[in-house]
Amino acid sequence: MKKELKVSAIENGTVIDHVPAENAFKAVSILGLEKHGSVVSVATNLKSSVIGKKCIIKVGGKSLTKDEVNKIAIIAPDATVNIIMDYEVTKKINVSLPSEMQNVVTCSNPKCITNDEEVRSKFYVLEKKPLKVKCHYCERCFSKDIELV
Ligand code: CTP
Ligand code: ZN
Repeated sequence: MKKELKVSAIENGTVIDHVPAENAFKAVSILGLEKHGSVVSVATNLKSSVIGKKCIIKVGGKSLTKDEVNKIAIIAPDATVNIIMDYEVTKKINVSLPSEMQNVVTCSNPKCITNDEEVRSKFYVLEKKPLKVKCHYCERCFSKDIELV
């Protein structure tokens, strides 16, 4: 029998599965988990038959909301979010792109106000596939070369 190293099950909290391995720490940052007071486990470069190499993020003691997890849809479109209570998966959410994104991507227009002032970026999602977004401030549209905050 093949033995695998796994992160242990959690009692209460949120398990985010199927995050592309290369975006593991971006997801942690977008969700603000550096500041989370309880256990956060990040297991990355795990094999996935669906997305190649994946990452699993386990957040102890906190049920993340749909709005919170949808912030990572741009970097982890196939992510599954499991809410755990008493060791059981009580809810499974598939992330979906929100219609607006605040402070997740930066505007590539060097003249945009969001690039030289303390203004949080804000984008509208015009199209989901392929992704097309519009800056709330300078109104420029971008379909690629989107930079994360
Ligand atoms: N999990 C956990 N702690 C628990 C229960 C589940 O960490 N107490 C984790 C599992 O390890 C898994 C994820 O939560 O990574 C989802 O659990 P489950 O739905 O049981 O697994 P799968 O059926 O494999 O999920 P999917 O079909 O979404 O791939
Ligand atoms: Zn802009």
